[in-house]
Amino acid sequence: MKRSPETEARGILLAGGTGSRLAPLTDQMSKHLLPVDETPMICYPLATLMQAGIRHILIISTPTHLAEYKKLLGSGETLGVNFEYAEQKHPEGLPQALTIGSAFMKSHPVVLMLGDNIFWGGSLIERLGTAIREPEGATLFAIEQPNAEQYGVVEFGGDGEILALSEKPKAPKSSWVITGAYVFDRHAAEFAAALAPSARGETEMTDLLECYRSRGLLRADCLEPKTRWFDAGTPKTLAAAAQAVGEARQAGNTFLGKPGRIASANGWIA
Ligand code: G1P
Repeated sequence: MKRSPETEARGILLAGGTGSRLAPLTDQMSKHLLPVDETPMICYPLATLMQAGIRHILIISTPTHLAEYKKLLGSGETLGVNFEYAEQKHPEGLPQALTIGSAFMKSHPVVLMLGDNIFWGGSLIERLGTAIREPEGATLFAIEQPNAEQYGVVEFGGDGEILALSEKPKAPKSSWVITGAYVFDRHAAEFAAALAPSARGETEMTDLLECYRSRGLLRADCLEPKTRWFDAGTPKTLAAAAQAVGEARQAGNTFLGKPGRIASANGWIA
């Protein structure tokens, strides 16, 4: 595949971590390979990246599991895309995806997707396209949820300005949670490398986003209520995601978690 111009967005899929909240399912299996209805979990965020037109994607996983992703996805040739792979040797927090991916990103804008995040039904794809075209800064995608304390939370002021970001706050001041899809400019790796670990011993995505907010370079795009979003990282949310995905498929969403169909629809393969 020919080299992409520097302005073309690249994608990073983070499929690392220990998946401890899904133990014992994850004692042997990588979390992001667990089945969600008909396909492995990773296929959903991968399909989203491909729907956003992204053809150059870095897949990050643990030294134990990376080979399994290579076996599942290969070089990307059969999908008309280009996959690269990198190890996350020790799980040190989500922003580590940007330091690991720094050489891959170069000066391209990057869409980072967490491997357990599943989206459909709204306009995330179009919104990713808009965010990618911003010349600088970062964009987070927020959605209203009743159980905000389980996620990163973004607090807005009266004029819609971003006041604060917090990771799993005990008493959330807002019901807008930060989903696992982010668009970053070329500064992300250097900001991520300078982050200090939080009290739980890992760097936090909210701290990386704060680097942009404090410089006036963070946008928060609020997804509409019809957007379906699941972080399939716990037994309950994994089961709920599988159920909802199955229903969406029954209702005719044939692209959900199906990279091959997206590659065909995009005209990337015959
Ligand atoms: C992570 C982030 C959190 C975000 C969530 C979205 O949490 O730390 O800010 O809201 O992903 O899926 P985790 O699910 O890894 O606990």
